[in-house]
Amino acid sequence: MGTADNQGDPVTAGWLTDAVLYQVYPQSFADSNGDGIGDLRGVAAHLDHLAWLGVTAVWLNPCFVSPMRDAGYDVADYLVIAPRYGDNADLAELAEAARSHGIRLLLDLVPGHTSDTHPWFTASADDPDDHRYIWAGPGPDGRLPDRFVPSPGRRAGGYLPNFFDFQPALNFGYARPQADEPWRQDVAAEGPKANRAALRAIMDHWLALGVSGFRVDMAYSLVKDDPGSTETSRLWREVRGWLDRAYPDAVLLSEWGDPIVSVPAGFHADFFLHFGGPTNGRPMRSLWSNGTSTERPEWATEPCYFDAAGRGTAGLFLTAYRDAVAAIGAPGHVSLPTANHDFARLHAGPRTAGQLPPAFAFLLTMPTLPAIYYGDEIGMRDIPGLPDIEGSTMRSGYNRAGVRTPMQWDDGPNAGFSTAPADRLYLPVDPDPARPTVEGQRADPDSLLHTVRDLIALRRAHPELGPAGRLEVLGDGYPLAYLRGDRFLVVINPSDTVRVLPHDRPELAAVTAVRNTGVTVEQATITAGPFSYGIFER
Ligand code: NOJ
Ligand code: CA
Repeated sequence: MGTADNQGDPVTAGWLTDAVLYQVYPQSFADSNGDGIGDLRGVAAHLDHLAWLGVTAVWLNPCFVSPMRDAGYDVADYLVIAPRYGDNADLAELAEAARSHGIRLLLDLVPGHTSDTHPWFTASADDPDDHRYIWAGPGPDGRLPDRFVPSPGRRAGGYLPNFFDFQPALNFGYARPQADEPWRQDVAAEGPKANRAALRAIMDHWLALGVSGFRVDMAYSLVKDDPGSTETSRLWREVRGWLDRAYPDAVLLSEWGDPIVSVPAGFHADFFLHFGGPTNGRPMRSLWSNGTSTERPEWATEPCYFDAAGRGTAGLFLTAYRDAVAAIGAPGHVSLPTANHDFARLHAGPRTAGQLPPAFAFLLTMPTLPAIYYGDEIGMRDIPGLPDIEGSTMRSGYNRAGVRTPMQWDDGPNAGFSTAPADRLYLPVDPDPARPTVEGQRADPDSLLHTVRDLIALRRAHPELGPAGRLEVLGDGYPLAYLRGDRFLVVINPSDTVRVLPHDRPELAAVTAVRNTGVTVEQATITAGPFSYGIFER
């Protein structure tokens, strides 16, 4: 430790560098018409809250026409907003209103598959000459190739799904075509060509309406049997080339979990994920995952860093970050989320509300792109034991419903989410009468919400706290201590005991506190109280 991890190299261009991202799950964020389901006008009505909080970009989960068997990740019309969320004019209005609040709007692009109700698919299932999807006939043994699902149409054989069986994979070809397996088409074949053109048309459609880019679902999944993601990367580089010419201000964020591959493939930034990538999500899980909620049992092999017991290390995450920056050649391309619609909230399992401030202090002083999952800014709880809702339960059996509950605006019976009867609510609100609410926390200057707002403001006021500033780690245990830029010392103790870090920088004793909830910096030691953080100026 003690080596400078980045020297403030040029970072990803443009507005994304200093962005603070906020993820809105549209069905659960805010309901403008009392039907129990969130909608675009609901989001628009709360832009004041988001601007007050200080976030600069909002990513909306899919809000397109869909049978909602995977909460909208099963798109049936890429070009039309799902009626339950509003219409295309509402989207355009939202993008414009967001812009006037200093917030850019990003949509979720689902390029790898459609719903099995998409007209492209129903046509393809009836037409043996259509190759927008991946179709195979039975082999000599009468069986479909592995993982293929029987055709629902007049066409014989079966199709390859991309995720759930009702999500047929769009055909972007195979990196290694094989004559004896004719469904493995070349990436330059007609079907893949048509899908690449359609992808661009979809992006163009929404960018022209005023959105600022996309979070790209399963971005790694397009070309099949693609060692090293060579062909998938080639495809995205072409998309990026077009984007840079047509919409130079727009960005692409990938759900890939491997920035060393995805950023050279053309993505402006990639998310740390709980799965995938060379280390199968271990660095991300090593921070937050305490084995509850959406966590798979086989993932809970080591204690996470943000745990009261204080038995983890921040080193795994920092190494992955450092490796990514070294490979990409510049910081600013990796996003660290608090949670998302697939994975446990920060406030999950045994983690208590008091443990959240140091986690946010870490999130908002790291040289990564911070992404706040709606409700995490007030410490909404991950709710165990909810029934499957719109595909929240995955094949492996784990259920994502508990991270998708309604935003708790106030302490009314439905948390201000809706005036609809409870049985019409899309998802139940946290039943705990002491649940945190936006209203309650806005009135309390000591609340998590105010802490998060304050930390966002601090980050935005000091670019050294973002990707532009160098990162030098003094200790990655308890407390975690690091220098940002030439100016800041950050100390984080997520454990429930006092922790001491010896150091050899006597000059640090002269720092002054910018924010401090229980840290003392002396000539040879840094002492941090339970669940404390400190941000100091040198
Ligand atoms: C990843 C999305 O985040 C998840 O919610 C969805 O179920 C799958 N991709 C399939 O699109
Ligand atoms: Ca509604």
